[in-house]
Amino acid sequence: MTEYYFMNGEYVEASKAMIPVRTHAFLYGTAVFEGIRGYWNEEEKQLYVFRAPEHYQRLIHSGKIMHMESPYTVEEYCEITRNLLKKNGYKENCYMRPNLYKSAQKVGPGLYDNPDAFMIIPNKMGDYIDTSKGLRVCVSSWRRNSDNAIPPRAKVAGGYANAALIKTDAHNAGFDDAIVLDEAGKVTEGSAMNLFIIQNGKLITTKKTDDILVGVTRNTIIELAKDLGIPVEERAIDRTELYISDEAFYCGTGAQISPIVEIDGRKLGDGKVGPIATDLQKLYFDVVCGKVPKYKKWCMPVY
Ligand SMILES: Cc1ncc(COP(=O)(O)O)c(C=O)c1O
Repeated sequence: MTEYYFMNGEYVEASKAMIPVRTHAFLYGTAVFEGIRGYWNEEEKQLYVFRAPEHYQRLIHSGKIMHMESPYTVEEYCEITRNLLKKNGYKENCYMRPNLYKSAQKVGPGLYDNPDAFMIIPNKMGDYIDTSKGLRVCVSSWRRNSDNAIPPRAKVAGGYANAALIKTDAHNAGFDDAIVLDEAGKVTEGSAMNLFIIQNGKLITTKKTDDILVGVTRNTIIELAKDLGIPVEERAIDRTELYISDEAFYCGTGAQISPIVEIDGRKLGDGKVGPIATDLQKLYFDVVCGKVPKYKKWCMPVY
């Protein structure tokens, strides 16, 4: 079946979706993007896109930071996404990559005199990280780019050179991923996902102002935890707190909820996936598939 992308206001065949080699976003990393998942609900024969408006609102904010004018409203982005998924006939889990980017064919980093363009690349996709096993991670020797360098709050393509170094060196050292510190040595997040630690039944995660991408999944988990009566604290986290946590997990659209069982060779708890991460993960997978009436408001039906 022909696959379609959305590009320059049209639904185009994947093989024809091309950008010229001199495109600014390619030469300078001047694109902002989102990762959005669609979950297939077999019982309802429905594809649900999870928290699409929140992702597109963040895309618009990322673009604003990067002097980009969004060509569409949140509602229009959602409509385009629905149409694209329908056109591709997806009836399985999938992942969309919308990109708002600088399209000038010019040399020089300036964001002025530089038109904005938009495209969505859809993919059929299951797990990005194995969510069933516990992850073994390390603390990266790389530091997270700061708000005054390449702001992590904006999901800027060029900023992901930082994530690429972190992920690759962790992989080459035999770890599943790494936890990243800021320049002051405080915990930020994973290579491309947020982090929660659990101590004495309480969820602890980094503050929004601590050089993280403020994740849609992070916000979802904070709401789910509050409803489950699990206390949540947003605060600065020391590196050594990681080692004495009872449990920890990564979260993100790609990572979903991925429990961590070992950090820098120290086992968390008994070294197995812990009970709170297990419960939250189970609830999360039901929520994203539209199986929990209370949270169906977060699931946008495609068909
Ligand atoms: C650096 C970074 N942090 C956190 C996240 C998680 O964000 P979200 O839950 O909105 O996907 C991502 C994922 O896209 C990311 O790239």
